[in-house]
Amino acid sequence: MNGRELLTATRSYRRRLDLNRPVARQDLLDCLEIAAYAPSGTNRQPWRFVVVTDPELKRQIGAYYRKGFAANLDGRAIPSELRPDINSGQYLADHMHEVPALVLVCSVGRPPEELSARRLASFYGSVYPAVWNFMLALRERGLGSTLTTAHLFYEREIGELLGIPCDEVTQVALLPVAHLLPGAENPVRRRTPVTELIGWDGWQRPDEDVR
Ligand SMILES: Cc1cc2nc3c(=O)[nH]c(=O)nc-3n(C[C@H](O)[C@H](O)[C@H](O)COP(=O)(O)O)c2cc1C
Repeated sequence: MNGRELLTATRSYRRRLDLNRPVARQDLLDCLEIAAYAPSGTNRQPWRFVVVTDPELKRQIGAYYRKGFAANLDGRAIPSELRPDINSGQYLADHMHEVPALVLVCSVGRPPEELSARRLASFYGSVYPAVWNFMLALRERGLGSTLTTAHLFYEREIGELLGIPCDEVTQVALLPVAHLLPGAENPVRRRTPVTELIGWDGWQRPDEDVR
């Protein structure tokens, strides 16, 4: 895959995750090494990773994830065009514990209590580039994942389970990692052309509906 293909074809993988084929530790190490080359504010490199392959730990994390996914949907009206996405999300929630490796991405520190855009951007913006680096590196090797956050309803419980000091460290994403089953590559759906999203020398289309 060339760089453009990798960047425009990488997406969330749920039903195509191979639940039966183990993921080699070396592949995880290689991809995490690439993750650790991401940029961060003042080069703090706050990311830390917890890799979970133990079946009992995965079972417990999967149960928290499933409850978190349900809580996320609770009481929300789902427009029909989002139904396939929700069904795919439900599939992952039902099978999270069967995915060969669960990578929990953490950030040293807690989100700033002063919820200014600047400080939040620095906190979360210093770890998500590493998440995306990791996902791209996986894809390049025929592995796949989905960036998930529904487990964060139970951040404390999962922290206790894995010995993560939740007063000092924040969990930001849970990445189920597996080889990809053969199958059609569903195209990445994004709003294009990008010219509609750009203002040259100033904001454009301020009346636009942003979901
Ligand atoms: C911050 C963030 C949180 C997300 N949380 C979840 C999640 O908890 N569960 C899930 O199945 N997908 C989650 N996703 C994946 C999105 O649903 C997905 O990226 C989006 O629908 C676009 O689909 P695609 O990646 O296949 O193109 C999350 C994505 C982001 C960026």
